[in-house]
Amino acid sequence: MKIVTVVGARPQFIKLAPLIEPLAGRFESVLVHTGQHYDEGMSDQFFHELRLPRPQHHLGVGSAPHGAQTGRMLERVEEILLQESPDVLLVFGDTNSTLAGALAAAKLHIPVAHVEAGMRCFDMRVPEEVNRVLTDHLARWNFASCQTAVDNLARESITSGVHLVGDIMVDSLRRTLTGPPAEPAPEGDYLLLTMHRAEMTPEGLESILTVLREHGQPVLFPCHPRTLQLLRQTGLDRLLADGPVRLLPPAGHRQILAWIEQANLVLTDSGGLQKEAYLLKTPCLTLRDETEWVETVAVGWNTLVGHDRARIQAGLSTRPPAEHPELYGDGHTAERILDVLAREAVPSKRAKETV
Ligand code: UD1
Repeated sequence: MKIVTVVGARPQFIKLAPLIEPLAGRFESVLVHTGQHYDEGMSDQFFHELRLPRPQHHLGVGSAPHGAQTGRMLERVEEILLQESPDVLLVFGDTNSTLAGALAAAKLHIPVAHVEAGMRCFDMRVPEEVNRVLTDHLARWNFASCQTAVDNLARESITSGVHLVGDIMVDSLRRTLTGPPAEPAPEGDYLLLTMHRAEMTPEGLESILTVLREHGQPVLFPCHPRTLQLLRQTGLDRLLADGPVRLLPPAGHRQILAWIEQANLVLTDSGGLQKEAYLLKTPCLTLRDETEWVETVAVGWNTLVGHDRARIQAGLSTRPPAEHPELYGDGHTAERILDVLAREAVPSKRAKETV
C-alpha cells in the first residue's frame, strides 16, 4: 500500500517527525513538501534537526495570498497524485497545505487521513478554521487528539472513521527531547513570546510589546518572518530597543522546547506552543480570544488574554496550578494511526475491482 504525505509548514514537520519512519517501515511512503514555508529557519533546519527524509517532491509554492497559495498547491498536488497513484493521502493540522492536499485527493477519490482532526475555535474568519472544517469533512479517517475533538466532529455529524488516538505532538516532543541537547536556556527568570497569526494587528502587537516592556522581565522572542516584517513596516521595532524583549530568529524544535521548559511563562498565539507549554509544565498566556485546546484552559494552565493590556498584565502573575492531568495521550499516537490505516485502508487496485 502506498501513502502520500503532504506537508508544507513548520508545525507539520514537527508532527511528521515521529510518524514518517514507522510509516515508511510499514507502507510505501512518498513525501511531498508544498514549500509553504521555505526559509532556512522555517523549513530546512527542521528537516535537518528532526532527521526527516528528503521529500520526493518539492512543489516550491512559497508565499502568496490564501487563494493563490492554496490554488497553486492544489494544482501541483493533483499532478503528483496522478503520477504516484497512492492508496491513502495523509495530512496534518490546519494549514493551506493541509486543505490543498485533502481537496486534491478527494477529487481523485483517494481516501484522506487527517491527523489532528476535529479542532475548532468556532470562528470562520480564522484561516486555519476554514482549513480544518473542510479537511475533516473530506477525510475518510479523522484522527482526534482529544475527546473535545471527537465531540466537535460529532456535532458536525462526522462519526464514522473517527479515532481517538491521542496527540502526535506528545510523540514528537518525546522524540525531540531524546535528541541532541539544545543551547542552555538563559539563567534566571524569563518569559518566552511567539506570534505569527494572520489576525495579528499593529495595535495588538503594540499592546503586547508595551506591557512586556513595562513589566521589565527578560523576554525571548523567536520571531516568525511575517511578524518581523510587521514590526519593521510599522516601526514597532522601536519598542524592542534597549528593552527587555530580545528579538531572535525562528528557533529549532529542541531549542524552543528547552526555552519553554525553563521559562516562567509562555505568551503565544500558536496552537502547538500552548500544548508544548502544558506538556512541559509551564503556564501559558494565549494571545487570542479563543483556543482550540480548551482543556488546557479548563485545568488552569492556559489563560486567554487576547491582545488586551490589562488581561496580559494580570496574566503575568500566573503561577502553575498544583494538578497536571494527562490530557493528550501517552505518546503512542503514531503507532495507533498506522495500525488503523494498516487495518482499514484498501489498496486502490482492489478498491477499483470491487466497484
Ligand atoms: C502557517 C499556517 C498556520 C501555522 C503556521 C506555523 C496557514 C493558513 N497557516 O501560517 O496554521 O500555525 O504556518 O508557522 O496555512 N514567510 C517567510 N518565510 C517562510 C514562511 C513564511 O518569510 O518560510 C512569511 C511570508 O512573508 C508570508 C508569511 O510569512 O507572507 C506567512 O506565511 P504563510 O505561508 O501564510 O503561513 P504562516 O503565517 O506561517
